[in-house]
Formats: sequence, C-alpha cells, structure tokens
Amino acid sequence: MGLARGWSVALRGVEGHVVEIEADVGGGLPGVHLVGLPDASLHESKDRVRAAVVNSRFVWPNERIVLALSPATLRKAGSGFDLALACCVLAANGVVPQQSLDGTVLLGELALDGRLRPVRGVLPSLLAARAAGMRRMVVPDAGLGEAALVTGIDVVGAADLGEVIGWLRDGAPLRSPGPPACAGGDEAPDLADVLGQDDARHALEVAAAGGHHLLLVGPPGTGKTMLARRIVGLLPRLTADDALALAAIRSVAGRLPDDRPLATVPPMEAPHHSSSMAALVGGGSGIARPGAVSLAHRGVLFVDEAPEFGPHLLDALRTPLEEGEVRLARAEGTVHYPARFQLVLAANPCPCAPAHDRDCVCPSMVRRRYLGRLSGPLLDRVDLRALMFPVTSFATAADDVEDTATVRVRVLAARAAAQARWAGDGWRTNAEVPGPVLRSRFALPRSAVRPLDAGLRAGQLTARGADRALRVAWTLSDLAGSDRPDRDHVEAALYFRDRRAA
Ligand SMILES: Nc1ncnc2c1ncn2[C@@H]1O[C@H](COP(=O)(O)OP(=O)(O)OP(=O)(O)O)[C@@H](O)[C@H]1O
Ligand SMILES: [Mg+2]
Ligand SMILES: [Zn+2]
Repeated sequence: MGLARGWSVALRGVEGHVVEIEADVGGGLPGVHLVGLPDASLHESKDRVRAAVVNSRFVWPNERIVLALSPATLRKAGSGFDLALACCVLAANGVVPQQSLDGTVLLGELALDGRLRPVRGVLPSLLAARAAGMRRMVVPDAGLGEAALVTGIDVVGAADLGEVIGWLRDGAPLRSPGPPACAGGDEAPDLADVLGQDDARHALEVAAAGGHHLLLVGPPGTGKTMLARRIVGLLPRLTADDALALAAIRSVAGRLPDDRPLATVPPMEAPHHSSSMAALVGGGSGIARPGAVSLAHRGVLFVDEAPEFGPHLLDALRTPLEEGEVRLARAEGTVHYPARFQLVLAANPCPCAPAHDRDCVCPSMVRRRYLGRLSGPLLDRVDLRALMFPVTSFATAADDVEDTATVRVRVLAARAAAQARWAGDGWRTNAEVPGPVLRSRFALPRSAVRPLDAGLRAGQLTARGADRALRVAWTLSDLAGSDRPDRDHVEAALYFRDRRAA
C-alpha cells in the first residue's frame, strides 16, 4: 500500500551512525519483518512498536510490513529505533506525510502505552545526525538537557508518540532545549582540610603538575583517600573539547547529569575493588558500555586499596594506560572508548594495617607480597610514590596549611611551562614524554645526572627507574620556574622513589 523512509541513529561506542529506515506496507500475509542486521533487542521492538501505535489510537496496518534498516552491514542494537520505526509505518500507511520525515532523525524507545522512554547516548547521536547533514531531531524530553550542548541542528523533545505524530503531521509545537546549562559547580574538596603529610602533599602537587601517576602508601586513617580526592582541584579545568568528549562517554553510560551536562573539573572515578571487569574497563552484555577508565577520561582514576584489586583487574589497566583508549571486542565488531586518565593508587603497607607500622604482625614475606601484588608492568608506569605516616599533631592547623587555590597556581604555571616545551610533539605533560626523548634531545649536563649514574652503577636503580626520576625532575624544575632540572631536582626526584614498593 505504501513506502516510507525515516532516520535514526545507531551507536557504536561513542560514535553515532545515521541509519535509514524503510517501511513497506502491503500485500502478503499480515506480519512484521525486520531486516538489516538487527540484534535480539531490536527484534523485540516489533511488538513494542505495534502496541505503542495501537495504544496511541492509530491504526496498525493489518498487512505484511517490511522494515529495513541500512546500512545493512552495521549491526543495530537497542531500543532507540522504536520511534523511527513507528513513524515510518504510520507514514507508509498515509498517517503522516513523507516530507515531514525527510531530514528528520527520530530517537527514542516506546513504552507499550506510547510514552517515549529516555535512551542513552543522545549527545553522540545528535553529533552524528548533525555531521550527516540532518536538519532536525526528535528526542525524548529527558534528553533535552544534553541536546542543549549541540548547536547547528534543531532539536525538539517529546513525551509520547501522539505528540510526535501531531508535530510531524500538523506542526503542533514540541519542547525545545533550554539555554545551554552553565558548566561548573562541581568543585573538588579543598587541600586545606589535610593536616601534616608534607611529603605526600608535595607528591600530589608534583603529580598534578607533571601528569604523573601516583602511589600513596600508608597506614589506615592517615588521609590517603582524603588526599587523593583532592587532586582534581589542582588540575587544569577541562577544555571545551575534552568536556564534550567526557559528556559523550557519560551519555552512553547513562551517567550524564541532566542539570549540569558539561563538567569543568576533571572527573574522578573510584571503582571499588569488588568491581567487575566490565565496570572497570567497559563491556557487559549487549551494547558494550564504557567502564570506570573511560568515565575517568581526561581526569583521574583512583584505585583505592589497590592490593585488594585482583591481579587480573590491575592488569586490565595496562592497555588503557598505554594507549589512552579501550577496545572491546564484540560480535558486531570492536568498540572503542577513549580512556586517557591519570592513575592514583592508594595502599596500606600490609594486610594487617595497624595504625602504627611498629605494631604490624605480618611476617615479612606477607608484607613484601602484599605490595608486590602491584608490582610489575603497572607500577612501571607510576612515576611517583609517597609514604604517609600517622598524623602526630593537630597543632599545624589553619594558617600553616596551604589550600587548593594556592597550590593550584604553582601547578598551572608548571603545566604551562611543560606544555610550551613539548607542544611541538603533542605531549601535554612531562609524564607523557618517552624516556629516549628525555635522555637524548633534552639531555642534561653530566653534573645534573650524576646521582642517576651513581644509582645505576651501584645497581640501586634500573634504567626504567632512571627515566622515571628524569621525568619527575623535569616537573620539579617546572614547579621551581627553572628552565632545566639541576642536580637538586634529580636528587629530589630520586627521593620520591619508595624502594619498598618498587
Ligand atoms: N592528614 C589528615 N588530616 C586531616 N584529617 C585526617 C588526616 N588523615 C585522616 N584524617 C581523618 O581521618 C579520616 C579517614 O581518612 P582517609 O579515609 O583519608 O584515610 P585512609 O588513609 O584512606 O585510610 P584507609 O587506609 O583506612 O582507607 C578522614 O575523613 C579525616 O577525617
Ligand atoms: Mg582510604
Ligand atoms: Zn601488617
């Protein structure tokens, strides 16, 4: 009886692809046939869409209906196509004019009564629709907050199928996104709260300034968690591009706050040690969801109580640390999620974890093995280690303690210096610079690297350890406002190595 075409978006990772949907109604025995690589969840759409159409008081054609999704090579998953499928069937049946569908992307899951349910990934879907040159897009009302972030395409929000049909057929008004929600308000806790721990505070500052991964070791209740949580306040605010990339990841994860979709402070994710592999690096059944490493993109992944994480979980962090992204293999192909984060690890020195180390009852073997769980390829990438000790006095309170704003000024100045130096190579921080570059192109005078030579010769230092110290030395020099590290910086960098954890 009729043919109609409409459009929706399929997501693969944080990338959207516009999908064309054709509906052919007529001839043959009544029934619905879905073709074009739909997955199981999409097959359920047939029943949902039919019920939603009927319950919205439209006529469901009692004929053979063929719904084709293309490109046929792209596997389509999920329920976000419901709205487009329903509108195509109704257009093929003459309820809405085809012109109203042209250039329009329809996104949303339908409830049986015709209500439009929110879907994940509205933001990346909109970006894909805009890139494909589509004019306008309908999203569930709940997606309007995200939609406000995207300009260059008209977006409207609807509550149910009836509203969308009214809009397509008669131009009945739908809701537009509000003004772009102002970013901000997500302030990190202040460093002024942390008493004592001068070494660890300094390590935190160096980590923030150089983008170095950091390991904090100390007995319980010394402020490891407290300190780690304060690092994001020291980091530069997210750039507009980074904030949008993070918002897209959060959108796909279903974790984008409605009121403040754009973050300004870098994210901090702190997965629990009982987390599943999927929660940590991404995955899960059906559509592969982003994990903590991606939700920490351009921010900090805080692995608290690190030795309690199983070795397989810790090992899984290596690839994203190296490559800045995760790749999840799926039947329909590989899904990529960005995952460029700074790692902060915290650990007790031993399993019994007394307040004072002298009360430890662990055999030395057990002690060594405990932090040994972290060793190897993961710790290789951790440039900084800091030891923390029980707080001995509250007397240092108030005026002596630097707050976040004070330290942040130094961190940002150091970062600017590093960025200017490495800009030509595309590195943002000292931590990203490969060892060979540090050793050759930016070689330091002999006098400065003498402590490293001595350590290497005495066998106290490996070549890798020396590279690590060099990177940290550059950051110490940036923090001090010098143009290159001197012997003192190199010695101070060596001091940051905790041999017990190395
Ligand atoms: N250096 C500190 N300055 C101020 N308060 C502190 C400090 N260390 C610990 N505290 C207090 O103790 C509480 C626990 O600190 P935190 O959770 O950071 O310890 P932790 O080292 O992570 O311990 P655990 O190993 O048990 O996780 C904090 O909420 C804070 O009230
Ligand atoms: Mg803790
Ligand atoms: Zn112990």
